[in-house]
Amino acid sequence: MALFEQPGRRSDEDYLASSDVATRALSVTVVENDFVEGVYDKLANVYDLAFGPALNPGRLRALKRMQLLPGQRILEVGVGTGINATLYPRDCSIVGIDLSPSMLEKARQRCKRRDASHVRLLSMDAAALTFPDRSFDVVYAPYLISVVPDPVKVALEMRRVCRRGGRIVILNHFRSRSPLLSRLERAISPLTKYIGFKADLDMPAFLAQAGLTPVSIEKVNVPRIWSLVTCINE
Ligand SMILES: C[S@@+](CC[C@H](N)C(=O)[O-])C[C@H]1O[C@@H](n2cnc3c(N)ncnc32)[C@H](O)[C@@H]1O
Repeated sequence: MALFEQPGRRSDEDYLASSDVATRALSVTVVENDFVEGVYDKLANVYDLAFGPALNPGRLRALKRMQLLPGQRILEVGVGTGINATLYPRDCSIVGIDLSPSMLEKARQRCKRRDASHVRLLSMDAAALTFPDRSFDVVYAPYLISVVPDPVKVALEMRRVCRRGGRIVILNHFRSRSPLLSRLERAISPLTKYIGFKADLDMPAFLAQAGLTPVSIEKVNVPRIWSLVTCINE
């Protein structure tokens, strides 16, 4: 698969490789774990309604990109209410981690209801994973990276716990390439943090600073303002 959906567009390569990607700030907005945990504890009861079906096309496409095989070990970082947990094949073993006790409780209830004994849920900070190096075949962050205080630190942890040749899959909203929309996203980002995410995360800077080289970047959901980034871990 070509990196972008319109392969060979010169501006795509320029977009990812602009000269200051290694140093520029990822967002105008700063958050701390305590703040994020508080937001998601409040959102837990309405999360599925607000962010369930609307964001599902991306979740389903991400599952395809994982190319899962029987027996594989998957880590979902920021498992939330467990929306994805019951989509994985039962012959894989899944670990889902999250910071918010209320979101995790919802995930526990969902897994119990659906008899998802192949899913293990743990309370953990994505920026300080307690797993040994190279413990997973696939490490997946659905709608997490623009939520955390330090996206690069989280991505480096994801790389550390993923085996060499394993897949790192990131589903997220990133700042638009359109100058007008991008200005708008920067302006509203200090406000969108109150509903759980930064609207202006810079994809090229994030990928460069995290040392991630995607094999594909696809636009997903409606409107198509979310990106599905698939990488092979080196
Ligand atoms: C937007 S929700 C995504 C939930 C789910 N993955 C989905 O597909 O809908 C983001 C989740 O990340 C969790 N989260 C935020 N910061 C985190 C961190 N530092 N470590 C682990 N989980 C975190 C939040 O508590 C929340 O449940």
